[in-house]
Amino acid sequence: MSHMVRNVGAALMAVMIARSAGFAQSATEGLYKAKCQMCHGEKGMADSGAGKSMKVKPATDPDVKKMSEAQMIEAVKNGMGKMQPYQGKLTDAQIKDVVGYFRTFVK
Ligand code: HEC
Repeated sequence: MSHMVRNVGAALMAVMIARSAGFAQSATEGLYKAKCQMCHGEKGMADSGAGKSMKVKPATDPDVKKMSEAQMIEAVKNGMGKMQPYQGKLTDAQIKDVVGYFRTFVK
């Protein structure tokens, strides 16, 4: 009997871990949608109205593709072209997460 209780506990733990991982993912996605998507587009293709009018490069542009993660973090922190600096507005962890999300569009 006590064996079964332990297994149920382990199963519950697994569900909780899966839930919190899923939450972290959607929080980053939400952050991107709220703060970045209007210029960079839903899939990083800069196909939104603001993205087009500011001539934001799509994530598939060679100039974007050659940037390292660190360079992108730098660009978001300190601003780049018409993009405002996000330092002080987002935490370092948020910037790293949201750049990681953006990089999933870089192919
Ligand atoms: C007001 C429009 C705007 C918003 C909002 C914006 N950006 Fe940008 N972003 C730009 C522009 C303009 C550049 C300059 C380079 C270019 O044309 O792509 C740029 C450059 C970048 C780059 C360097 C690679 C590239 O595409 O040139 C990254 C990475 C980036 N932005 C990520 C983000 C993230 C993450 C957010 C949300 C926290 C964000 N941006 C919000 C307009 C914007």
